[in-house]
Amino acid sequence: MTEHEERPASLTGQAQSPEAGVEMSRETSPETGVEMSQETGRDPVRILAIESSCDETAAAVVENGRKVLSSVIYSQIETHTVFGGVVPEIASRKHIEKINQVVDAALKESGIPLRELSAVAVTMGPGLVGPLLIGVSFAKALAFAEDLPLLGVNHIEGHVSANFIAHPDLEPPFLCLIVSGGHTHLVVVEDYGRYRLVGRTRDDAAGEAFDKVARSVGLGYPGGPKVDAEAKKGNPDAMVFPKAKVHDAPYDFSFSGLKSAVLNFQNHAAMTGEQYSRADLVASFQKACVDVLVEHTIAAAKDLKIRKIAMAGGVASNSCLRATMQEACRRRGFTLCFPPPVLCTDNAAMIGAAAYYRYLRGEFSGLDLNAVPGLKLEMIPLDA
Ligand code: KG4
Ligand code: ZN
Repeated sequence: MTEHEERPASLTGQAQSPEAGVEMSRETSPETGVEMSQETGRDPVRILAIESSCDETAAAVVENGRKVLSSVIYSQIETHTVFGGVVPEIASRKHIEKINQVVDAALKESGIPLRELSAVAVTMGPGLVGPLLIGVSFAKALAFAEDLPLLGVNHIEGHVSANFIAHPDLEPPFLCLIVSGGHTHLVVVEDYGRYRLVGRTRDDAAGEAFDKVARSVGLGYPGGPKVDAEAKKGNPDAMVFPKAKVHDAPYDFSFSGLKSAVLNFQNHAAMTGEQYSRADLVASFQKACVDVLVEHTIAAAKDLKIRKIAMAGGVASNSCLRATMQEACRRRGFTLCFPPPVLCTDNAAMIGAAAYYRYLRGEFSGLDLNAVPGLKLEMIPLDA
């Protein structure tokens, strides 16, 4: 076993700490002697959050939805790399092996004893059913044993909420581009937990397109970060790939045509013996993908008169997307926020942030909480 596998990665106390410089001032409650947050005037709400929807076993303790007291992520990337993608059964087994250790590490690092927690939160979906069930079962057992409230959290809402950790002043409403391995949505976050659907992908998610292209050009798994790195060596204008528009739905996305265009280019080159640079190919693919994401987001922001934009999900850590969106927002005077990469990809701190607002709304789960692999984020249609 490698060192990477042995020890879970930890966020807090390191240079990559997402909450650096955002600490809230605290004082002690005269009645309880417990530290109070000046921001809320209430006793701090400290939630232990667990995430296991795919190939990361993660746990975090988050205070008042914004302050990460600890965040531990055990990544299974090395385990799945040999298979070229996530193998659900192997992922489940790894989650079982690691979840105790990861939760224990998160609790220790936070310095918060179990009895001082306010609730246990867990990702209930969407994701892989086996991996989800490990987290849900663990959280239910812990909530029952410690007599703590339980909160089932939507993974996508978690991704959006990572922005609340990274940007302590961020408040709804804002427009959010959610780009992960399984989802591509453009939503207006009207309030905490209230989403209006502006656009969505009609076929592949953006992350899926990155992963499929990475596989077809021989970069392997995990695709997104590898394409990002390879593209830095190439010319993004070397090839021109189509930017699909969806008829009558100006903010919707479609990435399957782009993915096919890349495959066709490769097949054609193989047949004719034409030489090309892989770095140029992935840089051109990435540019086409990023341009569509940015153009639709900016168009929606202009049309809906929203001047605050956020990005969320694994693809939001893409360097080209971050730079292109930043420049587009700067030119129009829009505010842009996105979390640091470690909060864009799967982690439990974002689940703790989303759970806090559920906690405030009293949206608790019963011990009959189940994993819902196809869980949808409840969204109000744009025209309603
Ligand atoms: O949000 P996430 O960690 O998991 C899901 O909920 O799906 O997103 C994973 C996706 C994968 O498709 C991965 O290839 C992509 O995010 N990704 C990236 C980058 N880092 C991760 N895509 C492009 N550039 C990156 N730097
Ligand atoms: Zn995710």
